[in-house]
Amino acid sequence: MEKSSYFFTRGGGARWHYSLAKLTVWSFAFLALILIFFLRSPAPSTITSAADPSRRSLRNYNWGGSAWEKRVRASARARSSNGLTVLVTGAAGFVGTHVSSALKRRGDGALLERTGVFIVEGDINDEALLRKLFEVVPFTHVMHLAAQAGVRYAMENPGSYVHSNIAGFVNLLEVCKSVNPQPAIVWASSSSVYGLNTKVPFSEKDRTDQPASLYAATKKAGEEIAHTYNHIYGLSLTGLRFFTVYGPWGRPDMAYFFFTKDILKGKQIAIFEAANHGTVARDFTYIDDIVKGCLGALDTAEKSTGSGGKKRGPAQLRVFNLGNTSPVPVSELVSILERLLKVKAKRNIMKLPRNGDVQYTHANISYAQRELGYKPTTDLQSGLKKFVRWYLNYYSDGKKAVE
Ligand SMILES: *[C@@H]1O[C@H](CO)[C@@H](O)[C@H](O)[C@H]1NC(C)=O
Repeated sequence: MEKSSYFFTRGGGARWHYSLAKLTVWSFAFLALILIFFLRSPAPSTITSAADPSRRSLRNYNWGGSAWEKRVRASARARSSNGLTVLVTGAAGFVGTHVSSALKRRGDGALLERTGVFIVEGDINDEALLRKLFEVVPFTHVMHLAAQAGVRYAMENPGSYVHSNIAGFVNLLEVCKSVNPQPAIVWASSSSVYGLNTKVPFSEKDRTDQPASLYAATKKAGEEIAHTYNHIYGLSLTGLRFFTVYGPWGRPDMAYFFFTKDILKGKQIAIFEAANHGTVARDFTYIDDIVKGCLGALDTAEKSTGSGGKKRGPAQLRVFNLGNTSPVPVSELVSILERLLKVKAKRNIMKLPRNGDVQYTHANISYAQRELGYKPTTDLQSGLKKFVRWYLNYYSDGKKAVE
């Protein structure tokens, strides 16, 4: 595989490790596009976006022009006619970073930055940008990971969820349905769609009509919107319900991440319990397992059947749980972190607030196992060990203080 594709950011400089906390927020707001050609020795090339953490608006980014187009084309030049061409949105985000580098790694095994990533900064709501990209490169697949994530932040900034997870998704689907050939789309839903469902383990056929947060509601809306575009336009659509994904380069707003930070600082951490001392547990899923599920979904996605905005026949419509099938109580998570960090946590047991978090998640993954060959191999202990190693190394120089 070719190792000479680009890493490019507007305004110069790869800044995506500048501030993880800020970047995480940014990466969900920004569109990251990756073009990747793979399968049997095609040239891997990518476009992604890195957010400039010093800016607070999406309105002033630039794209286009003949030099830009040339770079897109150059980075998207395939060596093999049977390679996939994947446009990855959200590639600067947590899952996107890992998925795009894994796609690259099918060839050479380096990290995202070092493999060379061509970066386009933009918003998935920018129709002209998406149309231009499809004009320049006929993508066979879209891996749609750009989203506004987080359960509790939805109460602070509800509009950002509607903007990214609903309006942005619809905009992407509008462009995908009208281009010729239509790409197959794999996109990130969420285990949060199970909401107040109490039947465990969660199976794809269980009810998902009781979301407990606006975040969950927008992901559920995405699943219904996917159904519509599949039904009307023949788009091939695969939704992946991720279960509490964790690992290196993870989101600082997630519990395992800020617990690590606070334990090291000697700060008290809030551990939630449900009514009557009920256990709060999560089916924590290690990033590498999620990446394998994403690639499995891309590799098994059938072609869309429509063309030029017209349906020609029924197309594939799927939704899969990607979990670990092994829920772990949050108190056990803290114990593992204590052992790995060699620091005792100051635990403050609190009642689980009713602001979006559910008590328990547990994935039934037999469908993904059968169809995608999905088989998680990393337990929480081993995964956290890798996370902690990364964390200590990443924050060791004292300059990259977590915000
Ligand atoms: C898991 O889901 C499959 C369908 O994909 C179902 O047949 C099976 O009974 C489920 N297992 C459990 C333990 O609920």
